Amino acid sequence: MKKALVSIALVTSLTLSSVGVQAFAQPSATSQSGIHNVLDNRVINQINVDNIYNNIDYLQQTPRVAASEEEYQAVLYIKEQFESYGYEAEIQPFEFFGFTAPHTVELSVGETSLTPNSFTYTASGEVTAELVDAGLGREGDLAGVELDGKIALIQRGEISFGDKVLNAARAGARGVIIYNNAPGTLNGTLGGANDEFVPAVSLSQAEGQALATQLADGESLTASLTVLGAESGLRTSHNVIASKKPTNKNKDNGNVIVLSSHHDSVPGAPGANDNASGTAMVLELARAMKNLPTDTEIRFTTFGAEELGLIGSRHYVNELPDSELNRIVANFNLDMVGSRDAGDLVMRTVNGQPNLVTELAQASSYRLNGAPTPFNQGGSSDHVPFGEKGIPTALFIHSPLEPWYHTPEDTIDKISKEKLQDVAQIVSTAIYDYASFDNMGAKPKKAKPQSVDAQMYFEEDVQ
Ligand code: BES
Ligand code: ZN
Repeated sequence: MKKALVSIALVTSLTLSSVGVQAFAQPSATSQSGIHNVLDNRVINQINVDNIYNNIDYLQQTPRVAASEEEYQAVLYIKEQFESYGYEAEIQPFEFFGFTAPHTVELSVGETSLTPNSFTYTASGEVTAELVDAGLGREGDLAGVELDGKIALIQRGEISFGDKVLNAARAGARGVIIYNNAPGTLNGTLGGANDEFVPAVSLSQAEGQALATQLADGESLTASLTVLGAESGLRTSHNVIASKKPTNKNKDNGNVIVLSSHHDSVPGAPGANDNASGTAMVLELARAMKNLPTDTEIRFTTFGAEELGLIGSRHYVNELPDSELNRIVANFNLDMVGSRDAGDLVMRTVNGQPNLVTELAQASSYRLNGAPTPFNQGGSSDHVPFGEKGIPTALFIHSPLEPWYHTPEDTIDKISKEKLQDVAQIVSTAIYDYASFDNMGAKPKKAKPQSVDAQMYFEEDVQ
C-alpha cells in the first residue's frame, strides 16, 4: 500500500504556501527555539546508540516467547540494566491462559500419510479408529451418525471449529478432522481451552474431500491421529517497571509519562526489531535521562505477552487505580524502531486523532529534522490499552514493515543505527520537552492537549 503525506490546517489563520515547514513554526515556538535547542541537546548528548545496538544484540540471541524461560531471562536482564543505571526496578508478574503448540501432528488413513495442521487449543492424544463422515458437525448433522469411539470427519462452515469439536466429542468421538471448504490448507483455533476437547486436526479441502468421497462410496476407512505436546493452561509472564521520580519534590507536577515497549517475541523469531529494538531503546533512554532535572515522573516499562494479545500492558493499566491512571498524561510506545529494511518513522494513535504525544513528537521531529513525523490510526501494540483508558498515546513504528517481520530472519544484522538514533532523539526530546522544569514555559503543561494551531501531518492510504 502506498502512503502519502497529507496536510490539513486545523486552524486556518496561517497562510500555507508550501507543505509544512514555515507553517509548523508557531510564533511562540520561534522565540523559544533557543531554549529548545539547549534542552534537546542536553538529552541528545547523553544518548549512545551503541548501547541500544548492543542490548538488541544481547536480547535477540533467542526468541522470547511469553511465559518461556527465555522471556524470563530477558526480564531479569532488563531489570539488571535498569538497576545498573541507578533505578529501582520492579518485576510485575501476571497470569494468563495459554497454549503450547504440539511438537508432533500426524494423520494417516489406511496406508496413506496426510498433511494435517493442528488447531490451537486442541487436546493431545493418539487415536486409531474408524473414520466417519459427520457433515458440518452441527448437532443436527450428528443425530443419525454413530460416532462413539470413532474419528469424525467434518467440513468447515456454519459453526465454529470449537463447536464442531465439542459436538463430536459429546457424541463420543475420540478424534476430529476438519477439512477446508475452500482451496488451501487450514490453520485455525478452537477459540479457548476446554476439557471436553479431543485431538483435532485440519486438512486441506483436497485431502478432506477425497476422504469424504471414499466414505460416500461405502469404503471403510481406519484413521490414525497423533497430536503430542499440545498443552493448555495457566502461564506466567512479567512486566518490568522502573521509575524516574521528579528531581525536586517541590516542583513535582504530579503527572506521569510512560515510555513503553514489549520484550516478548513470537515463536521462532529472535525479534531483533520486534521488539528488542524498542526494549533496548527504553533502557538507553532511562540511562540517558537518569540525571536530567525533571518535574514529571517518567516511567520506563517493558511489557510481556504483547504478541499474545497485549496481555502485559492490559494487565498493567487494569491494575492501576483511577487516581494513578489519571496521573498518566502520555504514553510513548516503541515497537519495531530499528529496521534497516522498513520505511519511515510514523506514529499510530488508537482513534486516529492527534494528542499530546503526537504534538510533542511532531514538534521535536520538526525541530530536529525539519519535518514533523506523520501519524494515522492504528492498533496492534501496547499503546491500545492506554488509549482505551483515555490516555494520550502513540505507537512509534516504521512503515511499511520489513519483510522479516515475525520470521527467524528478524536478526541483528538488519538493524540500522541511524534509524535507532533518529527515533531515540525524537522521542527523548519530546518527553524532555514536557518533563524538564527549567524550560521557562516552552511546553504545554496540561494533561489534555491544547488545540492545535499548526499543521498536523497524517498518513493516508492512497492505495
Ligand atoms: N510489533 C507488532 C506491531 C505491529 C503494529 C505490527 C502494527 C504490524 C502493524 C506487534 O508485536 C504485533 O505483531 N502485533 C500483533 C497484534 C497483537 C494484538 C497480537 C499483530 O499485528 O499481528
Ligand atoms: Zn511487536
